[in-house]
Amino acid sequence: MSEQPKFKVTIDNISIEVPAGTTILNAARMIGGEVTPPAMCYYSKLKDSGGKCRTCLVEVSKGSEKDPRPMPKLMASCRTTVMDGMEVKNITSEKVVDARKGIVEFLLLNHPLDCPVCDQAGECDLQNLSYEHGAEATRYEFKRRTFEKEDIGPYISLHMTRCIMCFRCVFTADQLTDKREHGILERGDHAQISTMLNKSLDHDFIGNVIDVCPVGALTDKTFRFKNRVWFTKPVDAHRDCPTCSGKVRLWMRGEEVFRVTARKDQWGEVEEFICNECRFHKKETKDWVIEGPSVIARSSVIAQGHYVGNVGMKSSPALIDKVIGKQPKYTLDIHKVSDVNRPEIHLSEIEGPAHSDDFNKK
Ligand code: SF4
Ligand code: FES
Repeated sequence: MSEQPKFKVTIDNISIEVPAGTTILNAARMIGGEVTPPAMCYYSKLKDSGGKCRTCLVEVSKGSEKDPRPMPKLMASCRTTVMDGMEVKNITSEKVVDARKGIVEFLLLNHPLDCPVCDQAGECDLQNLSYEHGAEATRYEFKRRTFEKEDIGPYISLHMTRCIMCFRCVFTADQLTDKREHGILERGDHAQISTMLNKSLDHDFIGNVIDVCPVGALTDKTFRFKNRVWFTKPVDAHRDCPTCSGKVRLWMRGEEVFRVTARKDQWGEVEEFICNECRFHKKETKDWVIEGPSVIARSSVIAQGHYVGNVGMKSSPALIDKVIGKQPKYTLDIHKVSDVNRPEIHLSEIEGPAHSDDFNKK
């Protein structure tokens, strides 16, 4: 078999050789860092994703060695493949920076200012994008869209007002489950994620829609309002699971497991999809073999977690043991510092948001 030809592409003055057929976005990811455009709808693990949100727009200032003309419009880097000799501008292009600001404004047209009460706050791609590229205020003067509340089952909460129509959850359900119940209904600015007849999303792997959702439109009901994500400590753990790989991230406070998610890579994408059993039903430390603290980007608000030892560094549990003389331990146990909570009541096991009644029970 002949070897795949390599194309040279230059992005923000950094050159790299990539196999023919690579998209500009993936070439930029190979370079890494600031050069990489943000992506709100593309997801490398989902076939056909991308091309919806336009956050990844870049300027192609030289088409190729054979045809050096620049491309007349900004291009979606997740859908445009590189050509040999192509030159691309991302953060070095004023046009891109300006366009991205406009895209953020569009994405936020109907998005409520929910961050203070949204479970996704602190790990929301749209929140990050608006900090980096957004304007301080909106020019939108019309009424924002509202939706009738829809119950899509016991595990997943749908907040349609927060959805940016990236289609990731639809592709996930389509490609991971054999009976997809939800999709996009209606067209244009009436489009919405729905199950049509209030069906419950209950496939073994459907919980993954929570992890792929870039905003707080799909959140975990078993974690809803239980804690802010930056107060929890992410640790990597595994179990012997008959349905999935069992490799997960536990979000803990003290010894209590508040949430279980898949592990995510540096691009915020799930490394391996996990099953509902691991995600929603294994909420006790004894269910898991803990490997050690998760690697979290230093820029993330979650990185402010107070680990003992190497904060967020990649190191084996054995090494942690050697350095600090014991297994990773969490510095704050809420029950030890608060008179309000009763230690025997585990917040993560309470159905729905915790309420004073939960603590006043005899
Ligand atoms: S619910 Fe989330 S994942 Fe699904 S289309 Fe909306 S923003 Fe995307
Ligand atoms: S990530 Fe390219 S259009 Fe959304």
